[in-house]
Amino acid sequence: MGFALDRGLLYSGEPQKTTRRGRDREIFVGQEVAPPLANSGTMSETNEMGFDPVPLRAQFPALSQMWGGRQAVFFDNPGGTQVPQAVIDAVAGYYQTSNANVGGAFATSRRTDAVVAGARAAMTDLLGTPGPESIVFGPSMTALTFHLARSLMETVKPGDEVIVTNLDHDANVTPWTDLEAAGAVVRVADIRPSDGTLDLDGLEALLCPRTRLVAVSHASNAVGTIPDVKRVVDAAHRAGALVFVDAVQYAPHAPVDVQALDCDFLACSAYKFFGPHMGVLYGKAEHLTRLTPHKVKPSKDTLPYRWEQGTLNHEGLAGVTAAVDHLAAIGAGGGVSRRQALQSAMQTVQAYEQTLSHRLLDGLRALDDVRVYGLTDTARLGERVPTVAFTWPRLSPRATAEYLASQGIACWSGDYYAQRLMRRLSLDEAGGAVRVGLAHYNTAEEVDRLIGVLADVPMAGA
Ligand SMILES: Cc1ncc(COP(=O)(O)O)c(C=O)c1O
Repeated sequence: MGFALDRGLLYSGEPQKTTRRGRDREIFVGQEVAPPLANSGTMSETNEMGFDPVPLRAQFPALSQMWGGRQAVFFDNPGGTQVPQAVIDAVAGYYQTSNANVGGAFATSRRTDAVVAGARAAMTDLLGTPGPESIVFGPSMTALTFHLARSLMETVKPGDEVIVTNLDHDANVTPWTDLEAAGAVVRVADIRPSDGTLDLDGLEALLCPRTRLVAVSHASNAVGTIPDVKRVVDAAHRAGALVFVDAVQYAPHAPVDVQALDCDFLACSAYKFFGPHMGVLYGKAEHLTRLTPHKVKPSKDTLPYRWEQGTLNHEGLAGVTAAVDHLAAIGAGGGVSRRQALQSAMQTVQAYEQTLSHRLLDGLRALDDVRVYGLTDTARLGERVPTVAFTWPRLSPRATAEYLASQGIACWSGDYYAQRLMRRLSLDEAGGAVRVGLAHYNTAEEVDRLIGVLADVPMAGA
């Protein structure tokens, strides 16, 4: 696992450009790699794999906030992550040097063209797509999914079937259940309430020659489960169905490889992986060519532009590239490509986060009256992201979140739009659950602080 020991790109590819003003080279935003993650020598004892969050945290200005005299702790990451300075610089730098619409003859427009192309190249590397023409940008994963579903709707015949799951965020459910309006039959794959895993045997039993699409989560935004998506894709393809993967909660925590998965579509959101509020859709070129998008007539009809509605958030795209480069810097070294650096980086992140999950689950277990929903077996940490939902009798989920906020700790309560899951876990009428979601910049000390703060709440009835 390599670390960037010198400033700048350590993987091969585009030469580093900069957003800094006053330098005599071409100003070009969105290509800057985050500062190095050199080992500071203050490594936490939990970091056996050599990942040191301390220098990484220094890149995130928001992490140094003090709330009520306490260092703020961000465990609200599944709702959105903080951004490194490089992302802030890239967004601000875009406005300073490149602000224009695309396709013009003048300097700022040409720079904007390069920013868009740079972000597409970055997402190609993050997701492992065959090429940039398969990457579509939009305002959010939700908007992109409805957009695609609207086009798919026009190809649906009465009696066609779609499969959604009880694990998924509603953004990967309602766009597909809406196909009922065109006569589609909706089937629902269930979870095992005991451990929050997806029942894949049950899902496979729902597949039939009429199945048009399976919509499945790469990782749950509520209980953290990582289903075996490859198995779903293979089974769906055998039945002749397409697969849409929601990787919003997977992309910040593990390497994504759309070609290895062979999925037909995959969506994610940059604001969940340390970038701006934007959505990204991958689609196999054959599908993006065959389906008809809803678009205005003068806009380009070639891939990927035909799927992009209106003017994109260019400043956000500059930030997307910076966010991807931030991740790549964790795995950079030895002249590897950015794609290879990202694969290595996300393995490093995954291994580090598993130590945090282990600590969090152990800490919650020690509180006795906490009930965790999802996988708690620490031998199966590879099957979950570090997102943990729990309830306890001491306080309601909302009151717990408010109490933690008063102690300087951000986390969510409620259903986080995983409504089917909450109903299936019988939590929907009790305010859902508390959600603690970790990211690569969190530390063992922060987890211990959370557990200590929770332990101070009096037992119910005491
Ligand atoms: C798993 C999952 N899918 C989809 C979404 C929706 O993403 P967006 O806000 O980009 O529409 C979220 C947002 O929290 C999510 O957690």
